[in-house]
Amino acid sequence: MKIAFDDQVAIVTGAGGGIGRAVSLALGRAGAKVMAVDLDAVSGAETVRQLQALGVQAGFHQADVSSAEGVAAYVAETMRLWGRIDVFMNNAAWQGAVLPLVDYPDDVFDKVMAINVKGVFLGMKHVLPVMLAQRRGAVVNTASLGAYIGTRHLGPYTASKHAVLGLTKSAALEVARKGIRVNAVCPGPVDTPMLRDIEALQSPDNAASLREQRAAMIPDGRYATPDEVANLMLYLVSDLATHITGQGVQINGGFHT
Ligand SMILES: NC(=O)c1ccc[n+]([C@@H]2O[C@H](COP(=O)([O-])OP(=O)(O)OC[C@H]3O[C@@H](n4cnc5c(N)ncnc54)[C@H](O)[C@@H]3O)[C@@H](O)[C@H]2O)c1
Repeated sequence: MKIAFDDQVAIVTGAGGGIGRAVSLALGRAGAKVMAVDLDAVSGAETVRQLQALGVQAGFHQADVSSAEGVAAYVAETMRLWGRIDVFMNNAAWQGAVLPLVDYPDDVFDKVMAINVKGVFLGMKHVLPVMLAQRRGAVVNTASLGAYIGTRHLGPYTASKHAVLGLTKSAALEVARKGIRVNAVCPGPVDTPMLRDIEALQSPDNAASLREQRAAMIPDGRYATPDEVANLMLYLVSDLATHITGQGVQINGGFHT
């Protein structure tokens, strides 16, 4: 059996970013129609341009995933265009500040939770009714290695990713008999703009050397590529994974086992 999504409709949030673009392109190459959602209209539109260059039917919807109106609107736009949702990559997130907990601003904490936790909650709240009506669908929430372990100076981000895993497991139980699977991917370091931003905040004077040291700590000696994470996400929403639900699946080169 090969992984194919012909005639299927996918929504990807954070589609302008590293992992979101990689998984959008992977879904498109595998036959899906793709609704790319991002707050950043420039990077989101670029993903759609790349999809259309491959001959994929694709649309862009600018939305803030932490807003119920924004989420309802990207679901409504997808339904208006294509009338169904088979795959949902609930992937957008923000790293927030890189600071000790005692110095962490309350408003930044709230914003991290709003995007990373409420955004994932709202996404499922609005997409799952469509999948329930179809009695078919697969969701992948993007969590993190930070769903399992602590991260110095990234406490709120780490807490948000623990929460994504909790939402994933709970949602999976609610829809398991209704033709829908819900899983989370939990990547270690992935070479994307988000990680570059974090490195620049962690080591403003020498982000490159921090990067080298961190990569050297990973058993296979390197960060993941966005494509490697996209491959796992594609597998999880495919018909090769029909008995996998409620899981956090790690991808980290052996860094955490
Ligand atoms: N890069 C890593 O090392 C790593 C590791 C583990 C998990 N992750 C997770 O992978 C996912 C994708 O991250 P990435 O590394 O590709 O980062 P990225 O910064 O390249 O992409 C994130 C995208 O989300 C969008 N976004 C941010 N806030 C938004 C909002 N409120 N509404 C809509 N879109 C919004 C951004 O504009 C951006 O395009 C995130 O959930 C992230 O937490 C990343």
